[in-house]
Amino acid sequence: MDTDRFSRLIQPHGGRLTNLVVPPEQRAEALSYAETLPRLELGAAQLADLECLATGVYSPLEGFMDCRDYTGVLESMRLADGTLWPIPVVLDASPEDLAQIGNAEEIALVWQGQAVATLQVSDRYRADKELEAEAVYRVNDRAHPGVASMHARGNTHLAGKVSLIYPDLHDSFGLYRHTPAQTRAEFARRGWNRVAAFQTRNPIHRAHEYLQKVALEMVDGLFVHPLVGQTKSDDIPADLRIRTYEVILDRYYPQDRVLLGVFPAAMRYAGPREALKHAIARQNYGCSHFIVGRDHAGVGNYYGTYDAQRIFETLLPGDLQITPLPFENAAYCTRCAQMATRKSCPHPEDEWVQLSGTKVRAMLQNGQRPPAEFTRPEVADMLMQATRNSG
Ligand code: ADX
Repeated sequence: MDTDRFSRLIQPHGGRLTNLVVPPEQRAEALSYAETLPRLELGAAQLADLECLATGVYSPLEGFMDCRDYTGVLESMRLADGTLWPIPVVLDASPEDLAQIGNAEEIALVWQGQAVATLQVSDRYRADKELEAEAVYRVNDRAHPGVASMHARGNTHLAGKVSLIYPDLHDSFGLYRHTPAQTRAEFARRGWNRVAAFQTRNPIHRAHEYLQKVALEMVDGLFVHPLVGQTKSDDIPADLRIRTYEVILDRYYPQDRVLLGVFPAAMRYAGPREALKHAIARQNYGCSHFIVGRDHAGVGNYYGTYDAQRIFETLLPGDLQITPLPFENAAYCTRCAQMATRKSCPHPEDEWVQLSGTKVRAMLQNGQRPPAEFTRPEVADMLMQATRNSG
């Protein structure tokens, strides 16, 4: 990938943008070949990783990790060559899959019965799930959704370079599916050099808007990038989340300073390490800054409120180009009559309008509207409607 054209944008992680998508004119041949290979059916999270690998979201990775990279990531958050990488990107296989694959050097990766990619198998090794749980999630508790899905994986990993034959894997969010090469081109076209990225797995609330708008005061553009890969069952579905963004961006944001895109990865809920992964991916999309608020990518009480910010301070110079934008807990202060954080407001927190996710869910279940200081009425309406429809 020629990144020189976008030279005023930040460099991709590891210096080069990966592109492992088969060019359109070679697809028919690649597909006939893939049909002759042993097959491995992918799950949704594996498909998301495949897409991220092939389109450069996970640059400089070129495939599912081998044992050296996997061990390096667990033990020291580094690939075997020393590049920072916080979370394993692995392809597991069940004993039945392995029996079927045998010693094949190349296999087809299959999604919903269709071969979509090939994998050149360069390594097979056993996962070390105890170490992975402690290293990545800081806990080996199956009540943690990321730990639970890790344990649900097969125990053997297949490694190797991937080739994606079908880049159009989805029938949703077409308008918002940009590859890193596309966002880089779009940022360059808009003349943006300093771009702040915002990761989220929630509908937009006032606190999110506040963080984004404070960032907008300092940069050329904002890349709002909700995650639409797999999330836990009680998170709000992606289509509803995206609709809240469409309405709020349309009514309250300067159109020429914001780009909405969707992040195809699955959520791991790994808190600090996932914040780093989120930042690396956004650097690959061409963003210079990354918003990290309170309990980023956290779940339950597994991580300290600001652990995901602190982990950036442990990095070595040159590990990461993108700059974290840390934010303290933000809420509407009734005395200031505006959004604020501890850094800008002197009033006690009982004068702040703060609601936990659990509290908001309970309000919606009871047909109560969350206050406008917490969530804009347009979003409250959509959430109430969705709760009514599902009830
Ligand atoms: S996340 O799992 O994607 O991090 P979420 O959608 O809740 O979850 O948050 C998106 C981003 O906004 C994260 O960086 C998070 O830390 C930040 N954030 C969410 N709510 C607040 C808040 N009230 N105050 C400060 N930061 C927040």
